[in-house]
Amino acid sequence: MFDAMDKQDKTARYAEAAKEIASVIDGETNLIARMASVSNILHHTFSHYFWTGFYLVDPDKPDELVIGPYQGTLGCLRIPFGKGVCGAAAASRETQIVEDVYAFPGHIACDARSESEIVVPVFDRTGALIAVFDVDSDQKAMFDEADRAGLEAILAACFSRQ
Ligand code: SME
Repeated sequence: MFDAMDKQDKTARYAEAAKEIASVIDGETNLIARMASVSNILHHTFSHYFWTGFYLVDPDKPDELVIGPYQGTLGCLRIPFGKGVCGAAAASRETQIVEDVYAFPGHIACDARSESEIVVPVFDRTGALIAVFDVDSDQKAMFDEADRAGLEAILAACFSRQ
């Protein structure tokens, strides 16, 4: 169980997941196929992941996020930039780690069971924001610097460097 996992185990597991993702998406240029593979593999690698997926910057409404590939219970369809944790990550272009989502102003409760979350901005190779990657846990304070480092490395490798 994850509770027993120390930081080193978590880091090692992110490194293994990164290799698996790289091998699955190798040669695949379609963005949705790549995002679907990332969300699937990570969701099934970590038991502290309750909801795992992408919100894409809507090309028709560039200050709004729209749901992309995900795993878990039904997600909200749209999130304006600046609203909730995803909107804060999109507006600031910086990873957000929230130990208690109910203490976060403007948090959007798509599923009331979510208690903590991490949201990482996703950039293309020109540095443009294309999406955010959102992971929720049904327990408080489940995300830390090991999650940030693991996810930022995977998302950069999959979307910013090819
Ligand atoms: N909790 C997020 C909304 C998205 S879902 O949880 C799937 C937020 O406040 O940004």
